[in-house]
Amino acid sequence: MANTVKHYHPLSRILHWLVAVVVIGMFALGYWMVGLNYYSEWYRTAPHWHKSVGILLALVTAFRLVWKHLKGAPEVEGKPYEVVAAKAAHLLMYLLLFALFISGYLISTSDGRGIEVFTWFTVPSLGELFANQSDIAGAVHYYLAYTLIGLAALHALAALKHHFVDKDNTLRKMIGSSK
Ligand code: HEM
Repeated sequence: MANTVKHYHPLSRILHWLVAVVVIGMFALGYWMVGLNYYSEWYRTAPHWHKSVGILLALVTAFRLVWKHLKGAPEVEGKPYEVVAAKAAHLLMYLLLFALFISGYLISTSDGRGIEVFTWFTVPSLGELFANQSDIAGAVHYYLAYTLIGLAALHALAALKHHFVDKDNTLRKMIGSSK
């Protein structure tokens, strides 16, 4: 069936930029907090924020996919190989996000304690599901975080190339100023 969707829904655009800012913020927070020592006043607060925001981001990302399914998305513009690469990058970013949520959950819950999301609700722990869970999930989380940030940087460069070199509608569609 032909794709008749011409624009991103306003909520899809808001969620894209919200997630972009939060992902970059989470990377910076994660990078900074692993260097904190026990005597820092942020030693407990920073991981609490990282975990709380991470769970909320998981909910927002799941909602975003449902919303995309309901509202659709406009065609990707460019040469055939660019269209394939862009779609692969979008899919991979969603997969990396979910792999980050799962590995983050596994790090935080291996000691049997759930994740308190601010003071609002607690995501229960499933306990230790495999040996050395927290170390293995921690290593996976670390490499996935760098991979996502690297891919997001390439993705942003591609969007800028479409805007300034190809002068097409790609970036305007996500900003909301396309014709
Ligand atoms: C961590 C940061 C980012 C993540 C995780 C991310 C993720 C995504 C994803 C998953 C899509 C596909 C949307 C859909 O489901 O239809 C998308 C689309 C898009 N993103 Fe990003 N993005 C990020 C940052 C950026 C930045 C910084 C820019 C601009 C410089 C940008 C520009 C775009 C554009 C223009 C599209 C639409 C592409 C098209 O329809 O052909 N993104 N982004």
